[in-house]
Amino acid sequence: MRIHDMMRAEQVLGVTRVHESNAANTFRFTADPPVFLRGDGSWLYDDRDRKWLDLVCGSATSNIGHNHPAHIAALRETLATGVLHTGTRLPSPFRARLYEELISILPEELSCIQLANSGAEAVEAAIKAAQYATGRTRLISFEGGYHGRTIGALSVTDGGSIREPFSVLHELVDFLPYPGSRGTGGDDVGTCLTRLSDRLEELRKTDDLPAALVVEAIQGVSGVLSPPAEFLSGIRDMTRRHGVLMVCDEIWCGFGRAGAWFSFESSGVVPDMVTMGKAMSGGLPLSAVAAPTAILKAWPHGMHTSTFQGNPLACNMAVATIRTIRGDDLIAHVGHTVEPVLERALRPLDALERIRGVRVAGAQAAVDIMDGDGCPDRETAIRVQSAVHARRILIYLGGRCGNSLMFVPPINIDGAHLSEALGEAAGLIKHELETGRRHV
Ligand SMILES: Cc1ncc(COP(=O)(O)O)c(C=O)c1O
Repeated sequence: MRIHDMMRAEQVLGVTRVHESNAANTFRFTADPPVFLRGDGSWLYDDRDRKWLDLVCGSATSNIGHNHPAHIAALRETLATGVLHTGTRLPSPFRARLYEELISILPEELSCIQLANSGAEAVEAAIKAAQYATGRTRLISFEGGYHGRTIGALSVTDGGSIREPFSVLHELVDFLPYPGSRGTGGDDVGTCLTRLSDRLEELRKTDDLPAALVVEAIQGVSGVLSPPAEFLSGIRDMTRRHGVLMVCDEIWCGFGRAGAWFSFESSGVVPDMVTMGKAMSGGLPLSAVAAPTAILKAWPHGMHTSTFQGNPLACNMAVATIRTIRGDDLIAHVGHTVEPVLERALRPLDALERIRGVRVAGAQAAVDIMDGDGCPDRETAIRVQSAVHARRILIYLGGRCGNSLMFVPPINIDGAHLSEALGEAAGLIKHELETGRRHV
């Protein structure tokens, strides 16, 4: 029996509305989200079997699309063994295979892996490993940085309302400016690096240097902010000088999203630790931290463990993701097809009065919607999103103020499909902003 024979879309929404915690995202932007019953490649099919082009990818998770034959084969191969998990105390061939695959795409210094179940947990693991390795506790993060919602990860995540009610580690974390994170009038790279240098110098003098600095080479969910390479290389120089571990969070941008295996690559730096998740395992919960053995072999056995860590299904899915990205040359596809199509379709929107910023970095783009006074306009962004959804093109809302329309297609999307959908979306955005202008 198929799932839609068991429960109709109205029932799915009704049960979810009644029983789901409000902290979930389901009804955040609309009271009536689509219910998808199947997926194939870049397409999702709703309860009336209408197809939608997926330019969200499960929040940057389905990088190689839905129902990919390599993923299905990996699931079948793992299920055929009859072993879904043996816990963390026993080795697994799928885990070992994943270690080898991950090492093959990372800088050679980062040869040791700590697995976890979600992005936030990988960030937790990185923080703990850094604190253990350095014997320090303090941390540095950046304005606009997003690293997850568990207490440790939330402590390095920027954003007042999502932090304030909770006991985050306020006194241990400094948030420093990130290039462009305050909008078009934001800090330039020089100012950001000077602020970092000054703060590290102050902390050195009081003998309170941080264990780690956590940074996204490209801030994804905060609106595809992609600072010039000097920002990351400046951070690398300073963290090395002060013995602070540099953690690059690649949970959003990894596995081809930014047009490389990892977004730090274009700056030429090698961080001390890399956190990964999301697209790695194509929808199953899995994340990882990569670091040199000097860090991840320093702590004793069992110091950071969790029941489902490295479960075979998720590990084999990740192996299939990596092999597909490599085998199908998808990073090249992002460079020669996906990014140029995003650029061509969305860049002209920059000329509109109520758009301040169109940013494209690999297979992702953000378009900021402003009101008539030049302030972020989340209401209009939600309205535009609904108009685009009415044409069955699924897009995402992000950015620090929630006013960025975001386009996050599968990295293997067909260029013609993407181009056609973006042309339509761009037309709708223009139309909505022009008709909406009368109301501002
Ligand atoms: C850069 C980055 N780090 C960490 C996370 C948290 O990952 P998760 O939601 O799997 O906990 C996210 C999620 O969007 C992210 O974009």
